[in-house]
Amino acid sequence: MLSKKIEKLLQEQIEVESNSSYGYLAAASWCEVNGLEGAAAFFYNQSDEERIHMLKLFKYINEKGGHALVPVNKAPKADFKNIIDLIKYFHNSEKSVSSSVNKLVYVANHEQDYTTLNFLQWYVTEQHEEETLARLLLDKIKLIGMEANGLYLIDNEIAKHVNKKKPTAITMGGGEGG
Ligand code: FEO
Repeated sequence: MLSKKIEKLLQEQIEVESNSSYGYLAAASWCEVNGLEGAAAFFYNQSDEERIHMLKLFKYINEKGGHALVPVNKAPKADFKNIIDLIKYFHNSEKSVSSSVNKLVYVANHEQDYTTLNFLQWYVTEQHEEETLARLLLDKIKLIGMEANGLYLIDNEIAKHVNKKKPTAITMGGGEGG
């Protein structure tokens, strides 16, 4: 059984992952209508991954005797100044997800809920990877710059990261999934 506090925090994490999924879907759409096909593919993929992160939480809560609920989503940001603005948004979004995962880890540890702590390790690793990727993309984009055919090169650079992490079936307590 989950404590009420842990279940509430896991439910909040469902909301966080769901908002990320829709946020990246909006980002993908923005890229697509702005001719950035590579970046669009990347964010469509990213959006799918976030949905998997959300579904893993559904399964975990329910298997532990709780009841996972479908969250109400915030309207995602639909417009960006440029691709740098968008990648900064991606980076900040991942940093914010990491904070909520860390908060959950802290509480699970404090409550000596080692099953949840173990379940959360997958998210800790995932967040490390996503933050690293976001920072890498931001550095690369700054390096390439927006002058001349910079935007084209940036789009190609982002596209390289599409297939590195494919969303897969949900598994319990970690495993594949993003
Ligand atoms: Fe599931 Fe990228 O946070």
